[in-house]
Amino acid sequence: MGSDDKNSRAESASPGRAPRPADDARRRTLKVLIAAGGAAFGCALAVPAAVFVMAPLREDGKGGARWVKTVNLDALTEGEPRKVAIVADQRDAWTVAKNVELGAVWLMRRGNDVVALAAACPHLGCSIHAVIDPAPGFACPCHTSEFDAAGKKISGPSPRDMDPLATKIEDGAVFVDFHRFRNGVAERVRVGV
Ligand code: FES
Repeated sequence: MGSDDKNSRAESASPGRAPRPADDARRRTLKVLIAAGGAAFGCALAVPAAVFVMAPLREDGKGGARWVKTVNLDALTEGEPRKVAIVADQRDAWTVAKNVELGAVWLMRRGNDVVALAAACPHLGCSIHAVIDPAPGFACPCHTSEFDAAGKKISGPSPRDMDPLATKIEDGAVFVDFHRFRNGVAERVRVGV
């Protein structure tokens, strides 16, 4: 074996040799694939994590509607307020309790529509009842707040009218967008369900 051949092999095995264009292209492709894979993996983890973290915010009543099914429209009689319990799942942070009584509402039929008023008194939260004498309306027994048939305050320490709640009819059933409100303040402020 001649000395020229030995020199040639020594040069090709040298770690300091200049990279070939094909090697550069392979390295770039590999880097792009690793970066893309990392980004896809990060997104796959981020989406369920965000859903998990945001779940209590969506369920606490501050983030949007909370429709709860109550009675059938046919069960309501025009001119006769009916008190119904609001029963639904209750989320506490990341745990869920099934079929909890969250509160109650007064439902009043108006043709094919329904008006709903929260049964909790805006003063200190006692349960409001319906009255027919001397005129149809509502009253709170705790500190004698009185409201007319539309829930408007007539007298007593309640700082505001009864709290109205949105309703909708689906497949003959009355749904109420149920929320609780802060007691003792004139402004209507949601405090969750
Ligand atoms: S809680 Fe109703 S008037 Fe006080």
